Amino acid sequence: MFRILVAAAVFLEAVSAASLGIVSTEGGMVQGTNIRLGYQRHMDVFKGIPFAAAPGRFEKPKRHSGWDGTLKATSYKPRCFQLTILMDDVYGSEDCLYLNIWVPHIKSVASNLPVMVWIYGGAFLFGGSMGANFLDNYLYSGQEIADRGNVIVVTLGYRVGTLGFLSAGDSTLPGNYGLWDQQAAIAWVHRNIRSFGGDPSNITVFGESAGATSVSLQTLSPHNKGIIKRAISQSGVSLCPWAINRNPRKYAEEVALQVNCPTDSRMSTCLKMADPKALTLAGKADISGSPDYPLVYKLLLSPVIDGDFLPDDPSNLFHNAADIDFMAGVNDMDGHIFTGIDVPSVNTALVDTPIDDVKRLLTSLTEEKGTLGSENAFATYTLDWGGKPSREAVKKTVVAIETDYIFLIPTQAALYLHASNAV
Ligand SMILES: *[C@@H]1O[C@H](CO)[C@@H](O)[C@H](O)[C@H]1NC(C)=O
Repeated sequence: MFRILVAAAVFLEAVSAASLGIVSTEGGMVQGTNIRLGYQRHMDVFKGIPFAAAPGRFEKPKRHSGWDGTLKATSYKPRCFQLTILMDDVYGSEDCLYLNIWVPHIKSVASNLPVMVWIYGGAFLFGGSMGANFLDNYLYSGQEIADRGNVIVVTLGYRVGTLGFLSAGDSTLPGNYGLWDQQAAIAWVHRNIRSFGGDPSNITVFGESAGATSVSLQTLSPHNKGIIKRAISQSGVSLCPWAINRNPRKYAEEVALQVNCPTDSRMSTCLKMADPKALTLAGKADISGSPDYPLVYKLLLSPVIDGDFLPDDPSNLFHNAADIDFMAGVNDMDGHIFTGIDVPSVNTALVDTPIDDVKRLLTSLTEEKGTLGSENAFATYTLDWGGKPSREAVKKTVVAIETDYIFLIPTQAALYLHASNAV
């Protein structure tokens, strides 16, 4: 008898599986996959929904023209065209403006759930949220967060590298294409997520590293007014020294020379016709560093102040984020990877890190403050050194210097500016 009851209960639960079924969006119908996660817990997963048309090269994303019938949203699309991790080849596709959605259902079909939109990092050069990411370790499935938090999770694709951020510093090649992609995805979510059981007035954007800086920039852009409710920046904000390239023309000219384009008034026209693979390979970053020329200064394919997405310096745009709740954080020793490249001895337990390296690094990082800047910085960072600092104390100091410069102090500054503008 008991077994029959259990069997009946299991059967009833299975046939009553909560699902959105076919969902109507602005582009047409979409159908995902429904999975069972436990007793009365189901989830609809939509993979590869286009949130914009395939983008024109170095152009803003445009609305998708839609489709007939029902789009099967059941497999990931390629990540945006980019360098491989060794930066000697390329992969992905230029047709990459797709998003994925995880919708949890507890007992009944979801409605009015909060929504979280994830923006991946990767130095504005790499990244994706379309399946296997690092070796076979699938980063950025939304399933776990959606299930644990009873929130809708959305992940998106945005252009990176040369195709995402190359800028001539003028209207011929304005830059920020990757930021426009993110914005188009957020706006699509705002317009369509109600059909998926989401609350469009409760959208949180979150991201890590370059994704965290992107989140911060999205809150500052006037183009997101009224769309974003909350934002979470994990290790990156708009005020980071690597967030904005203030002289993008110089970098564009270097890329132009590599793809055999002139650097005069014909440059942008020529770059637009260049081979995407050659363009992407030309965006290969020099990932070496030294105390005199730290790696952080070599990340040049980044957002720009284009007078449109970013009408002004980020520090002057916090009024646009006044009604957005903002949370930002960094990790202990967040700058360690950078430090290990600039001052490799920090990673060698049995080797001293020369005090001179500390001084040279501080001189580079305080260049705009003059000699007094580096002397004051050295005095500040060595306050607790005592007479003769231990080998470990010196190494930790170097990591702290880079962590402060690259992540921590800009994050504190952004939080203060946000708080002082908040309503
Ligand atoms: C947004 O969702 C969160 C989490 O469920 C909830 O605490 C909050 O009240 C919601 N905000 C609004 C404005 O509905």
